[in-house]
Amino acid sequence: MIQIVFAIICLLPLNQAALPLVINTWHFENAAGAAWSSLQKGGSVLDAVESGCAQCELEQCDGSVGFGGSPDEWGETTLDAMIMNGDTMEVGAVGDLRRVKNAVGVARAVMEYTEHTFIVGESATIFAQNMGFMSEDLSTNQSIAIFSKWLQQNCQTNYRKNVFPDPSKSCGPYKPNGKSWRPKHPKGNFDPSSHDTIGMIVIGEKGQVAAATSTNGARHKIPGRVGDSPVAGAGAYADSTAGGAAATGDGDIMMRFLPSFLAVDLMRNGAQPTVACKTAISRIKKYYPDFFGALICANTTGGYGAACNKRPGLSQFPFMVVNPQTKQPQLQKVDCF
Ligand SMILES: *[C@@H]1O[C@H](CO)[C@@H](O)[C@H](O)[C@H]1NC(C)=O
Ligand SMILES: *[C@@H]1O[C@H](CO)[C@@H](O)[C@H](O)[C@H]1NC(C)=O
Repeated sequence: MIQIVFAIICLLPLNQAALPLVINTWHFENAAGAAWSSLQKGGSVLDAVESGCAQCELEQCDGSVGFGGSPDEWGETTLDAMIMNGDTMEVGAVGDLRRVKNAVGVARAVMEYTEHTFIVGESATIFAQNMGFMSEDLSTNQSIAIFSKWLQQNCQTNYRKNVFPDPSKSCGPYKPNGKSWRPKHPKGNFDPSSHDTIGMIVIGEKGQVAAATSTNGARHKIPGRVGDSPVAGAGAYADSTAGGAAATGDGDIMMRFLPSFLAVDLMRNGAQPTVACKTAISRIKKYYPDFFGALICANTTGGYGAACNKRPGLSQFPFMVVNPQTKQPQLQKVDCF
């Protein structure tokens, strides 16, 4: 038994802390590679998280990042993104961004060129245009096809409740249903296959922390819906005195618990990254046992971990790691609990 345990430990030498560190959600290998090469070229940790997320926006990672994915109830793709500097605690974020592909770039511009933190909707588009970003249609044949199919299926599934006509059978427009009732079993329309937000943490050689996220949100969302990704402390958090964290999953639920902030704060108080991630997920699980979500955590010495909530469709959560031990982006997996 002791030998077996020893062998297992020897097989996991790559789980060691080393700096610099790039870690991101899901199997987005090129994103990890882009962030790593940005660091190799002398980029800052902020440059690295920005290039990593921008790479996913370009590649339309899993259809859930960038243009042409997750059409809303009107068929439009809208983007949410944020970036955080853990040295200064500056944040730049955009929500419900329309017709601009490089959402994390616009988030960085909010941080660099304004005193604000968060700019949303059509006004974020105008801001982006003024800052030199190109404005273009985010629809693709695929997003149009997803939208048409949804219309043909009587707008199923959707995120409406307590409205008339019955949202489980019909398209809108909807009106509040006079008598307010609560379904015994919330329908949980969240489809894990279409919610693979990129969240990335980069820790520099001196322990500087940056984090960023980018997503096109939830498929068939109600127009104007903004998820957890661009919300500091929810989608991601970075603090160079403690560590960084980033989330993926059902943002509508996760943002109520600020899991990224919580995990970083736990690491500040001495928790190991894996434990911090797990505790933050447990906090949500208590109220929503079947929620879909995962968290990555990294501390300032390059220790890292991840956790996810076990549910149908998610028994393991994949994430990418690059550090001087792995040298290349390496896929790792954590068992959900
Ligand atoms: C999208 O659809 C149009 C019209 O059917 C077609 O002409 C075009 O080639 C398609 N584009 C791609 C990238 O498939
Ligand atoms: C960071 O995490 C690693 C791995 O869990 C741990 O060994 C190390 O002590 C942690 N560093 C700090 C500063 O807590």
